[in-house]
Amino acid sequence: MKERSHDQDLAQAAHVTVPRHVAVIMDGNGRWARSRAMPRIAGHRKGLERVRELVSVCGEKGVANLTLFAFSSENWRRPEQEVRLLMELFSSALEREVGKLHSNGVRFCVIGDVDGFGPTLAAAIREAENLTRQNDRLTLTIAANYGGRWDIAQACREIARRAVAGEIDPESVSSETLAPHLALADLPEPDLFIRTGGEQRISNFLLWQLAYTELYFTPALWPEFDRGHFEEALTWYAGRQRRFGMTGDQVEAARRA
Ligand code: IPE
Ligand code: IPE
Ligand code: MG
Repeated sequence: MKERSHDQDLAQAAHVTVPRHVAVIMDGNGRWARSRAMPRIAGHRKGLERVRELVSVCGEKGVANLTLFAFSSENWRRPEQEVRLLMELFSSALEREVGKLHSNGVRFCVIGDVDGFGPTLAAAIREAENLTRQNDRLTLTIAANYGGRWDIAQACREIARRAVAGEIDPESVSSETLAPHLALADLPEPDLFIRTGGEQRISNFLLWQLAYTELYFTPALWPEFDRGHFEEALTWYAGRQRRFGMTGDQVEAARRA
């Protein structure tokens, strides 16, 4: 029974032309700034404008879930000054934008180890999440101090705790046991992944959740990734045949049924 409904869900996902969930690695801010002889932070500031635009285009197009990689668990390796300026940009954007997001019906969430940002920023994040919790027009998730390996490890930790408490049998642990403890568990898995900036790698973003996501790489740097670029990605997505392990004929037959 359970398996059938999972297959039905896959068959449905295979034929939805507008992605229900788009996940983005916003890369190339530094190179954009450098090519203009500007400091790297100027690229990050410009990138924030693109975030605003993308959120509103997603609302228009009916993309219900948008997840953006803003700061990876490895980005702490950057020069101290860049990390500090990024934190300042993140907190000021949070302060400035949350009211607008709320009035536009956006549910704002953060995934990642937010305690790593210190108590003030962590509290501001929790407050923004609480304020917008009931909104359902668009779920905007920011991955901050996030790493795909961290995510899987924290889910395993939770399962291990439950096993020790005698609540679950270790032998029964499967991917279905783990999935609800991972970030984004309450959302459909990403249909479309976009990475700007020309690199073709995942950089420890959503490792588990991208298992069957369509992967789109573009050389456009994030500060130049505007509405037109996004529409190109959506068009590319609409032309994909998603098979989830099945044959193309099976997928076609399910579409006609
Ligand atoms: C992505 O742009 C933003 C963050 C990682 C915070 P980069 O800062 O990585 O830009 P490039 O890759 O150096 O151009
Ligand atoms: C990935 O970009 C992280 C974010 C966009 C937040 P990076 O620029 O950090 O990735 P690498 O280091 O080139 O793999
Ligand atoms: Mg980069």
